[in-house]
Amino acid sequence: MYRIGQDEIDAAGRAILSREFFKINNAGREVQHFEEEWKALTGAKYALTMTSGFAALTSALIGMGIGPGDEVIVPGYTYIASALAVTAVGAMPVIAEVDDTLTLDMADVKRKLSPHTKAVMPVYIQGFPADLDTLTALSKAHGFRIIEDACQADGGMYKGRYLGAIGDAGAFSFNYFKVITSGEGGALVTDDRSIYERALIYHDASAVAFFGDQLNGIEQPLFGGVEYRVSDIIGAILRAQLKRMPGILADLRRNRSALAERVCGGDLVQAPSHDIDGDCGTTLALRFENEADCRRFQTRCADNGIGITVPIDTGKHVYTNWTQIMEKRGALHPAMDPFKMEANRGLQTDYTPDMCPRTLDLLSRTAYVMISPEWSEKDIEAIANVLNGK
Ligand SMILES: Cc1ncc(COP(=O)(O)O)c(C=O)c1O
Repeated sequence: MYRIGQDEIDAAGRAILSREFFKINNAGREVQHFEEEWKALTGAKYALTMTSGFAALTSALIGMGIGPGDEVIVPGYTYIASALAVTAVGAMPVIAEVDDTLTLDMADVKRKLSPHTKAVMPVYIQGFPADLDTLTALSKAHGFRIIEDACQADGGMYKGRYLGAIGDAGAFSFNYFKVITSGEGGALVTDDRSIYERALIYHDASAVAFFGDQLNGIEQPLFGGVEYRVSDIIGAILRAQLKRMPGILADLRRNRSALAERVCGGDLVQAPSHDIDGDCGTTLALRFENEADCRRFQTRCADNGIGITVPIDTGKHVYTNWTQIMEKRGALHPAMDPFKMEANRGLQTDYTPDMCPRTLDLLSRTAYVMISPEWSEKDIEAIANVLNGK
């Protein structure tokens, strides 16, 4: 959470005082307005607000018709939710390396493509854009779908286009830790009518056919799904957050660049990026030759009051710590567990702790300086002095 205050209180109050804050209503229609605004921003044709980023990822996968017998390539460095979204729809996550930018390594994607690959999921961890030109070319050549996990990249861009709205579908998170937040929340975007229709039906299976005219013009037949609806209170808060987003991103990016200018170029090296201007600016990533140097830097900064995160320490963001995946427990009921399904037999699920050595190496010699949009020039100067060992 970066910025929140009276505007969000007023927005939530407006929704509550309308006394109609079910998603479908004849009062503020906040969720509907938010979806219009999110579409206008990202340039996507369709948007659906949901309870979480995970909800958006699974709804997108369902919308693509992905299920048992299918493989989805995910990077070994992402929050476990990316991989669990794949097992949630009955498919198998195939875990790939990340490149120097800590996003999906396209060379490893190429190596891991198989006749079962139905989708590839680039993840914009810390708001870092992936190599989407190469991925788009690969997807055209091999016929798989691109599902973008933009959960950590609300408002991020790649070569002038919004992350999340470049592939076949994209998922955003608005949980407490994201660029904008409603405490919990998410959104799916797509230009594909059939993905949209199926995601609409899936994410609100019991109410979509009951409330309002949501099924007008929908051609896909109804099928069973889940309930990932949000209330108009969430919609109202998100609209207030959306107004703040350009300012949050501009200030994050400016402060990240200002800090990088002061510290990088000598001993400290900034990790490469596929689009440093589109990157959300939440994090300055520094790259070291080895873990020992990285840890020494971390300790020196900590001794001077600056916390540094080494991403190998970030628990469920690293595939080795994805217990449910590594130990192959995809569901409680054995008949619902995709790892036990006949259709998934023979797919690439040979998960071992050392299967992505480059990812582990890069994560253990990268240092994150978390950026605040509220820093003044003086703050940046003081932090730079610590990072520079002055
Ligand atoms: C990369 C990534 N993907 C997916 C998710 C899931 O988002 P949510 O917590 O909103 O379900 C997160 C959340 O932290 C995330 O960081």
